[in-house]
Amino acid sequence: MIKKAILPAAGLGTRFLPVTKASPKEMLPIVDKPLIQYSVEECERYGIDEFIIITGKNKRAIEDHFDYSFELEETLKQKGLHTLLDEINQHSNSSFAFIRQSKPLGLGHAILCSKPFVKDEAFAVLLGDDIIDPDETLLSDMIKIYQQYRSPVIALQEVPKKDVSKYGIIDGDHVSDVIIKIKSLVEKPKMEDSPSNYAVIGRYILTNDIFDVLENIQPGSGGEYQLTDALSLLLEKRDIYGYLFKGKRYDAGDKFGFLQATINLSLKRPEFASILKDYLISLTKTF
Ligand code: UTP
Repeated sequence: MIKKAILPAAGLGTRFLPVTKASPKEMLPIVDKPLIQYSVEECERYGIDEFIIITGKNKRAIEDHFDYSFELEETLKQKGLHTLLDEINQHSNSSFAFIRQSKPLGLGHAILCSKPFVKDEAFAVLLGDDIIDPDETLLSDMIKIYQQYRSPVIALQEVPKKDVSKYGIIDGDHVSDVIIKIKSLVEKPKMEDSPSNYAVIGRYILTNDIFDVLENIQPGSGGEYQLTDALSLLLEKRDIYGYLFKGKRYDAGDKFGFLQATINLSLKRPEFASILKDYLISLTKTF
């Protein structure tokens, strides 16, 4: 069983400036839920209920969001707003711990900050700005692969060749249509040097031995401590598998990806599905 998830949320969110100057990117709402809540709910669907959130400067709102709010609950109770009360309480069976990454030194460094709180256990890592459509079963499929191979598993998605320089990219051999035994990983390669167009996306099942490797890596691409570099070193010691995800994912850390996520996830909400669809159709007639 995987019970624990690490959610790194200490990045600067430069692609989303100016709003991220003083507000966490992870709290940007898709309709009425902040981005990070989608990742928390994704985990809870598969029995993960211990969360370690890595935060940094200007990220206090994330802590408040998952904390108990006495005044708000009392007010909602008095007003008989029980549906809203249930909604704000829906994570009350999960536990949340917050660790501050004092400087945004990279994703690898952010994960290393959680070392004192992770025992000898496998755990999930979710990057909150990668929104996986709630109807997809990516995380549960990855957990099954971990259970089969007892090896780290990383989520992959095919990206257009022109985009490889935005991602960590792998080289590997297909074990099945969707399972890939990884041979190498490289962070943000140039298009002409890229070993494939299989990009690492923001879902990982990792094992405790990643911490020893993270402690020994040097700053890599962009001067940051990269998780991809640590995985590359770990590969010298043990197998790592990739899971080729073919479902819907939105890069909500990017402005256009965020707009796509907002429209698509709103269309799934029963209260908006029909009126939003009609509205979008009416817009197309005006172009
Ligand atoms: P990104 O590469 O998306 O960086 O980080 P970012 O700062 O969030 O956004 P941009 O690219 O500047 O617009 C991937 C994930 O790693 C976390 C981020 O919060 C995000 O979830 N991260 C990154 C950290 O927690 N600490 C870091 O030092 C860097």
